[in-house]
Amino acid sequence: SRRRKIVAGNWKMNKTVPEALALVRELRGAVTSVGDVVEVVVAPTYLALQAVHVALEGAPLQLAAQNCHWESSGAFTGEVSAPMLAELGCAYVIVGHSERRQLFGETDETVNKKAKAVLAAKMTPILCVGETLAEREANRTLEVVERQVRGGLEGFEAKDVASFVLAYEPVWAIGTGRNATSAQAQEVHAAIRALVGRLYGEETAAQVRIQYGGSVKPDNAAELLGQPDVDGALVGGASLKVGDFAAIIQAAR
Ligand code: G3H
Repeated sequence: SRRRKIVAGNWKMNKTVPEALALVRELRGAVTSVGDVVEVVVAPTYLALQAVHVALEGAPLQLAAQNCHWESSGAFTGEVSAPMLAELGCAYVIVGHSERRQLFGETDETVNKKAKAVLAAKMTPILCVGETLAEREANRTLEVVERQVRGGLEGFEAKDVASFVLAYEPVWAIGTGRNATSAQAQEVHAAIRALVGRLYGEETAAQVRIQYGGSVKPDNAAELLGQPDVDGALVGGASLKVGDFAAIIQAAR
């Protein structure tokens, strides 16, 4: 099966609402010709979601949130629920980003609960996994990533997993300018797809999309996105510059 490529810009804790609007308006002009070939997603902060949703109207761009809580409402000061994000027009929610795992104590269990909340709200999780430098150097990459995939996907049905987006983001490549080589990325992506095949069947494995993230730039995107099991990119820093992000989208064609 031919998987449609998906390029997502994770803006992280960047851009005020006016800045987010300016960025998305510029981006609209840049993505008109690729909308059918490549799915393009932007993930602003919670604060900017509403304004960006309005500004995206009619454009071939999807909206994502960067996180959510797993309960739909209640006494969880400072949190935002999946149904709230769906109501704002989000199609995707990033769950288990390594920054959330490392800085905010997320575990495979909470990531799994969040993914379930996202699906229950009729959105699609972008479920992130990836090893640290120490884990890679100890030759534990596949073990760590497989544990995260198993944990994150626990309890889902095959048809749900088939619609998910997984993102392989080696922690040592995030924001460092040191991307994984295309061979390193392909090795892990193939292992993730094989694991999904063992857990949920070959058809599901053929459908699930697996993005690479970690220092994706215009000059390495084509090589990374040219790998057979790399179905897109989750872009941080380079998604904040329209020219760079547009070039990465073009490389996905
Ligand atoms: O979600 C995006 C990733 O963390 C990659 O960030 O492109 O700035 O390395 P980066």
